[in-house]
Amino acid sequence: MQGLSFYIETFGCQMNEQDSLRAGYHLAQAGCRRVFSPAEADILLVNTCSIRRKAEEKAYSLLGRFRALKRKRPGVVIAVGGCVAQQEGQGLLERMPQVDVVFGPHHVSEIDQLVKRCRVDGERFAAVSQITDSVEDLECPGISDGKGLKAYVTIMEGCDNFCSYCVVPFVRGRERSRPYRSLLKEARRLTEDGVKELTLLGQNVNAYRAPDRKGFRFPDLLAALSALPGLQRLRFTTSHPKDLSEALIDCFGSLGPLCEHIHLPLQSGSDSVLAEMNRGYTRSEYLEKISALRDRVPDVAVTSDMIVGFPGERPEDFEDTLRAMRSVRFDSLYSFRFSPRPSTRAAALEDTVPEEEKLRRLHVLQDLQKQISLEKNKALEGKTLEVLVEGVSRDGGQWMGRTRTHRIVNFSGPEGLAGRLLPVTIEEGCQNSLRGRCFLTRDDTGG
Ligand code: SAH
Ligand code: SF4
Ligand code: F3S
Repeated sequence: MQGLSFYIETFGCQMNEQDSLRAGYHLAQAGCRRVFSPAEADILLVNTCSIRRKAEEKAYSLLGRFRALKRKRPGVVIAVGGCVAQQEGQGLLERMPQVDVVFGPHHVSEIDQLVKRCRVDGERFAAVSQITDSVEDLECPGISDGKGLKAYVTIMEGCDNFCSYCVVPFVRGRERSRPYRSLLKEARRLTEDGVKELTLLGQNVNAYRAPDRKGFRFPDLLAALSALPGLQRLRFTTSHPKDLSEALIDCFGSLGPLCEHIHLPLQSGSDSVLAEMNRGYTRSEYLEKISALRDRVPDVAVTSDMIVGFPGERPEDFEDTLRAMRSVRFDSLYSFRFSPRPSTRAAALEDTVPEEEKLRRLHVLQDLQKQISLEKNKALEGKTLEVLVEGVSRDGGQWMGRTRTHRIVNFSGPEGLAGRLLPVTIEEGCQNSLRGRCFLTRDDTGG
């Protein structure tokens, strides 16, 4: 494996991003070198997502392009990982002759061995068995965002919720929490290396239960990590409304590093659709939790995911969703058209809402959200907020960072601000970001 080059392309959620980091880490340990152009690579790795039909199609179209590359260079190994790999298994090898190795999310840490086996034996195979016990191997030694400022720590894997539309429990397997000991070690190493912001990752993070400490649950984990020296910000994603306990609500506003933001997907504002989705809460239960959260921290940012056009969603159900949005006033929202996924219960239901009607509902919902986001961002004009500076803004010439509520701020200020926590005065609230100015001088910032 020494001297081989690899290229990774990642689709899907943060869990997949994290898995790609781990795959890259294991390949690098085996002596391989990462390249950023597929044409230069000996190993092409595609980490796929299956959450919606479109996500799956993207992976297939990339594999089509890789097929052309492989025609020119037959020695190239193509390995497909992630959730489509888990879902399709051996079938992917049969349908796609260019693919050599198929590996599921539970086999990421063996990637170097799998590629080696393929190269040595010339064998094509799928490694997609699901492991149900240890999650020790999720450890991702000391890998941050590349700037050493922010890092993700996976605390649990899989999901047992079986929302009726969702493929995750099938492709990621049963819910398993990582031992507290190994999490703490990883988090401590990251903060000792200078990481200022940690995000705890899992499909259902607030269901965390330490397997190595009796009665130690998610709020206990937040409290323990908040005490790490040097940690400025702590975030987590994604949490499920039914597992938003009072103890977790109490963490907001009382644990210093815990940021005032929660991503708490509502999915629909209609009780009958929520029941069909098997979400385990009603609209009013959700609203009560939000109001308890806002009693503690009035400015807490709440973001959500929403699905339109779930089977059987009537116009009045959709109206309920809009009503819930007006009531909560989410700070931002990810919205999707329902698409049936393999193995899920909803895939067996009649897809009653025509595509053009799904699209219409999506646009109505997105227009409402744009208006709410803009109003909320405008309300911040004139305020001074703490910003963690990530680097220069996309259009260059300005600094870019995020507030504790996870809003992007583009701002002007002196040189040498990257990696710092600074007060920034907001001058303009836009739809998806804020514009501002840091009034500190270079001397004030020690830059
Ligand atoms: N574990 C998280 C996120 C799951 S996937 C959670 O429980 O919220 C991210 C989002 O994709 C979901 O919140 C949902 O809004 C959307 N999604 C999942 N399956 C879908 C499907 N079949 N069709 C459309 N959107 C879907
Ligand atoms: Fe999917 Fe529901 Fe689990 Fe989220 S909680 S991953 S939507 S099954
Ligand atoms: Fe996609 Fe798998 Fe994540 S389906 S959203 S990559 S868990």
